[in-house]
Amino acid sequence: MARRYHITTFGCQMNKADSERMAGVLETMGFEAVEEPDEADVILYNTCTIRDNAEQKVYSYLGRQAKRKQEQPNLTLIVAGCVAQQEGEQLLRRVPELDLVMGPQYANQLDSLLEQVFNGSQVVATEPVHIMEDITKPRRDSVVTAWVNVIYGCNERCTYCVVPGVRGVEQSRTPEAIRAEMEELGRQGYKEVTLLGQNIDAYGRDLPGSKPDGQHLHTLTDLLYFVHDVPGIDRIRFATSHPRYFTERLIKACAELPKVCEHFHIPFQSGDNDVLKAMSRGYTQEKYRRIIDTIRSYMPDAAISADAIVGFPGETEEQFQNTLKLVDDIGFDLLNTAAYSPRPGTPAALWDNQLSEEVKADRLQRLNHLVSQKAAERSQRYFDRVEEVLVEDQNPKDPTQVMGRTRGNRLAFFKGDIQTLKGQIVPVKITEVRPFSLTGEILQPSCV
Ligand code: SAH
Ligand code: SF4
Ligand code: F3S
Repeated sequence: MARRYHITTFGCQMNKADSERMAGVLETMGFEAVEEPDEADVILYNTCTIRDNAEQKVYSYLGRQAKRKQEQPNLTLIVAGCVAQQEGEQLLRRVPELDLVMGPQYANQLDSLLEQVFNGSQVVATEPVHIMEDITKPRRDSVVTAWVNVIYGCNERCTYCVVPGVRGVEQSRTPEAIRAEMEELGRQGYKEVTLLGQNIDAYGRDLPGSKPDGQHLHTLTDLLYFVHDVPGIDRIRFATSHPRYFTERLIKACAELPKVCEHFHIPFQSGDNDVLKAMSRGYTQEKYRRIIDTIRSYMPDAAISADAIVGFPGETEEQFQNTLKLVDDIGFDLLNTAAYSPRPGTPAALWDNQLSEEVKADRLQRLNHLVSQKAAERSQRYFDRVEEVLVEDQNPKDPTQVMGRTRGNRLAFFKGDIQTLKGQIVPVKITEVRPFSLTGEILQPSCV
């Protein structure tokens, strides 16, 4: 019987993309995927450490499998991703049953690391390395939409954030490599590509050809023009954008290039300038508002999503009110909110003006309340409209329906047969709106 592997992925899209690459490596090695970790011979947790609760979740999963390993010594236990990078050797001390601890930069090298494990070593791979070009074929979860990494790492130093510590310095892939991956996806029948980077507007500044005055030859805008005509790929998205580097030139390109969807994920983190300064974000709330205004002047209907943190050290009620005000004024289609969590190795964790958990929880609840109210308002604009929906899958809750996304990235459901519709972009008349999803009817009855 073939050896079986299981991967559980925590955290962001970067981790999801890495997991798909590691799954590809495992399948090339002859492993088969299983849903149930208890049925696997190799278990890999691809971990996230952005907040303390994300990290703790990993330990509870690991504890269970470590116990199982005591009865099944042949089980191989791997921790990959950001907790692995943050904890390194210490993870082995905490969970001695582990076979392999590997940072995110090693995703493509899983095969050679596993060889060492199978030869009897316990391995820790967390030294910063140059990320090898993706020669393995990822095993992607979808056959319709795909992630394509364009830049790894982050050179920012937001005072609350572990990412630069665990993902390393920025490493851009070449435009040619990105285009080649997209062309291959187009040939395989994929319809949508999301270009990925922690700070995607930084794309290209580390590539040869950059000039010392900060002007560089390759930018995200240039990349969009370079890849937009890849055959077969009908939609292009990109995430995550940083307000510090978001340019009007990029906005113009998005408006001009038909395949680039009118959806922008631009975290603002706080609506208060002093908090933004303490976070070292490098922009003001006025600049953030100007960016959104500019986007809306080119694309009035663009969907805007963001991330925000409440309860940053020293945040006063008044400063929190400025975040509420920004959210109220802008009207986000989606906002990921979080209570500030002090993280190891970050400056803000050491400050003595931390807020209590009660204050943070209370602010989070108030912000979330406003967010769903605003999202419901934003959803109304879709009512009775015809939206282009790219069909991704069956609705898991109702097999007579299929689901997909609008260009603005809203989930949409409608009656239809997944066999005929999967991977198609179809016009859907919206008949029902909810804060974060839509229901409608397809306008081509012949397809149903
Ligand atoms: N590169 C992106 C975000 C990456 S992390 C950016 O610069 O915006 C994803 C989100 O997690 C962040 O946008 C932030 O809202 C949240 N986050 C990061 N560190 C956090 C912390 N210590 N506590 C709470 N939320 C945090
Ligand atoms: Fe973290 Fe800031 Fe980098 Fe985003 S830009 S990953 S928040 S350090
Ligand atoms: Fe988490 Fe690492 Fe992403 S810490 S949010 S998985 S970059």
